[in-house]
Amino acid sequence: MTSTNSPRIAIVTGGGNGIGRATARMLADAGYAVAVWDLAEQAAEEVVSAITAAGGVAIARKVDVTKPEDCVAAAAAVVERFGRIDVLINNAGVVRDGQLVKVKDGQVVGQMSAEQFQFVLDVCLKGVFNCTQAVVPTMIAQKYGRIISTSSVVALYGNFGQTNYVAAKAGVIGMTRVWARELGRYGITANVVAPGFISTDMVKSIPEKVLQSMIEHTPVGRAGQPDDIARAYLFLADEKSSFITGATLSVDGGSVL
Ligand code: NAI
Repeated sequence: MTSTNSPRIAIVTGGGNGIGRATARMLADAGYAVAVWDLAEQAAEEVVSAITAAGGVAIARKVDVTKPEDCVAAAAAVVERFGRIDVLINNAGVVRDGQLVKVKDGQVVGQMSAEQFQFVLDVCLKGVFNCTQAVVPTMIAQKYGRIISTSSVVALYGNFGQTNYVAAKAGVIGMTRVWARELGRYGITANVVAPGFISTDMVKSIPEKVLQSMIEHTPVGRAGQPDDIARAYLFLADEKSSFITGATLSVDGGSVL
């Protein structure tokens, strides 16, 4: 994993489910000590139990990434327990889809609400800002860090019904480029992973017909799995990935080619 003797310490937000859960497990298997942060406390605890049962080191914490005070307290708890923070994986995310303006038979019948817009921005954009700001002072002090944030291929290409989500996920790419510039001098890299369609709870409401069509338009001929994204996170988290910063890595089976 790394060239240091002591384990690297990684935080995974939204680590209780889907891609985050797979990532926490893969990091632990690779020798990292893992802090699993999630709004769903029980889910985070179950992930930690599975990791410790397999001989790994992990701690769970209930964190709402939309609350700066939660993120600061949780970061302090990681430092208290492990003495440092090497990797932050900003993975927590939500969707609340709706068209900007919905029209039926020439009449406006609905629209994305301000609350819908703000909720997704709070989790997917402000949450990334909050968690990153909470860990960066520690990373600067230790002159080492890996910040990896989750965008989506829809941030690059747009998606019907996702004004809020696309705005947030595009913002993550922009913020990351700023952090790459601001933090590179401290040995900190900041990168983005942009997943394509990945089989998790987040996408289970997509109708089967739409799913099949998405798979047909994916050159590798299958839906992505959480481990596909976890592998990309691990690659960017590695100490030796030190010359990659400000980058956006699409992991989508070629679906948008
Ligand atoms: P998921 O819904 O399976 O898991 C998301 C996790 O985030 C859950 O454990 C949830 O409790 C947690 N979470 C939600 N709000 C939170 C908050 N305020 N504070 C802390 N934790 C919170 O989702 P999935 O599919 O694993 O997504 C992971 C990331 O990948 C998200 O950022 C998502 O936007 C992104 N993504 C997913 C894609 C997919 O096809 N599944 C495609 C592109 C991006």
